[in-house]
Amino acid sequence: MTASLTASEAPRKLSAPVAILAELTHRCPLGCPYCSNPLALEPREDELATADWIRVFSQAAELGVLHAHLSGGEPAARADLKDIVAHCANVGLYTNLITSGIGLTKPRLQELADAGLDHVQLSIQDSVEISADRIAGYNGSFARKEKVAGWVTEAGLPLTINAVIHRANVGRAADMVRLAVRLGARRVEVAHAQYYGWGFHNRAALMPSRGEAEAAIAAVEELKKALEGVIVIDHVIPDYHARYPKACMGGWGKRGLNITPSGMALPCHAAQTIPGLDFWNVRDHELAEIWTNSPAFNAFRGEEWMREPCRSCPRKEVDYGGCRCQALAIAGDAREADPVCHLSPHHDRVTKIASRADNPEPLPAYSFRRMKLRESVQ
Ligand code: SF4
Ligand code: FES
Repeated sequence: MTASLTASEAPRKLSAPVAILAELTHRCPLGCPYCSNPLALEPREDELATADWIRVFSQAAELGVLHAHLSGGEPAARADLKDIVAHCANVGLYTNLITSGIGLTKPRLQELADAGLDHVQLSIQDSVEISADRIAGYNGSFARKEKVAGWVTEAGLPLTINAVIHRANVGRAADMVRLAVRLGARRVEVAHAQYYGWGFHNRAALMPSRGEAEAAIAAVEELKKALEGVIVIDHVIPDYHARYPKACMGGWGKRGLNITPSGMALPCHAAQTIPGLDFWNVRDHELAEIWTNSPAFNAFRGEEWMREPCRSCPRKEVDYGGCRCQALAIAGDAREADPVCHLSPHHDRVTKIASRADNPEPLPAYSFRRMKLRESVQ
């Protein structure tokens, strides 16, 4: 499909984006099979230079952005991370480092804290070491993350643990929350795997059965009450088993921008899977111009692009028709209702995929992504 709105047809009254997610690099020492990064990772030589990122964050602050999520790949793979953090702090952006922890040392974390880093989000792969290392595709990652969590809290930085739930760890969702408490986190995000990028590629290996997913959801919900006042639990439930879709990204082009390592501005991390969208690059356009006029951002704003059943559905103000990338991946057209929705004419495809996971077949092998860039991680 092609972008459905031109710049002149685009809605004019836009709120400023709340957040910018900066994928500083696609280089990563881990190979998590649920990674939402694209199958074609961007190479180091295409990455934005420090001066480019500095300019982008200045423009973000001018535009009214509040939060800068520094992500990847592994953002610690960039030697200029401290300079980027310091600049974000200077222009008044709240900085959140989203990290695997690999590549961070105690002095480096202290340096980042001194530069003005506000918050750290550390991923864990499982509560059991041998399984965690296997999922990460990196021996010693579990032990390293335990150390990094300690350094984060010692540096006085608030810590959130990210735990992605899938077939290989679904029985230990509650244990992962308990591990987050032990690591000193104030918050834990327990998110069932989303099927984008490498996650979509490995979906058959990742998707738990409905019974397993429901047991994990119940266990985490129970802990929410039991651990009230101890840790905040953000719980993202699996949408393949839901009745309605999520409001992906809080609505297309409504709340934030993702910038790829080479500077492509995307409305969501999987947007490049949608054919025909014209993405603008921060090397060529100012952020404000991209936010307002980029054809890709305007393609699914408003409701002109919507088809039935979304167009006449009262929930279109709540979920905006769900996820455009999931509509494309499963229904074959990004303008369709997200097929997770039970009202979608393509919902049976989701039911079929989910019921395949109910068959007790042996776990298919993960197809780990691999970038030979470990040496680049400090
Ligand atoms: Fe959401 Fe569309 Fe389903 Fe209505 S029909 S609930 S707007 S996805
Ligand atoms: Fe692209 Fe949901 S991931 S709209």
